[in-house]
Amino acid sequence: MHRRTFLLALGSVSAAAIFGHPVFAADSRILVAFFSATGTTKEIAKTIAQAVKGNLYEITPEKAYTKADLDWHDKKSRSSLEMADSQTRPKIAQALPDIRNYDVVFLGYPIWWGIAPRILQTFVEATDLTGKIVIPFCTSGGSPFDNSADLLIKGAPRAQWKNGRRFMPGVSPSEISSWVRQLGVVF
Ligand SMILES: Cc1cc2nc3c(=O)[nH]c(=O)nc-3n(C[C@H](O)[C@H](O)[C@H](O)COP(=O)(O)O)c2cc1C
Repeated sequence: MHRRTFLLALGSVSAAAIFGHPVFAADSRILVAFFSATGTTKEIAKTIAQAVKGNLYEITPEKAYTKADLDWHDKKSRSSLEMADSQTRPKIAQALPDIRNYDVVFLGYPIWWGIAPRILQTFVEATDLTGKIVIPFCTSGGSPFDNSADLLIKGAPRAQWKNGRRFMPGVSPSEISSWVRQLGVVF
């Protein structure tokens, strides 16, 4: 059989699964942790959690962001000030997840000024991600994934960070599930 026919015959099985390099095992215990100020990342997080049969954890700021807080045209808005100050760590409202119950963490955020909002740094620095497989994902108005997770990696250097992915608002659930399958596990 030609290689192409062989690959077609395998249908929905991902390339990573075929070639034996899954990012995580099918029986992994999975957490989908995310922050979302206006709901876009939350929708993606819900779809990922459904696709991987994982638990959802919303990173909720102690003080919710108002519309004025999110105004990036205003240099004095809360988000502008936080993003301009690399030391800011907005507090998280609720208890952190019991990370010992998980092997894999999908970590979602909206891109703010090219990077992850500071509250993601609060989360990775307060959670012991040692040895955990962490797969970042984000949404944005147009900025690519790029190095948006670099400060998160710096904040949790003992995690096993995997390549991340940016989704445009309105991405279809099938595109999200297809990305999850490419990570090497067929659900
Ligand atoms: C303070 C702030 C800064 C932003 N900076 C960027 C940016 O640098 N690049 C970009 O493409 N989108 C930027 N956006 C747009 C968001 O990334 C985008 O709307 C995202 O999908 C919102 O996700 P959410 O609804 O989960 O909060 C910014 C939004 C806000 C509120």
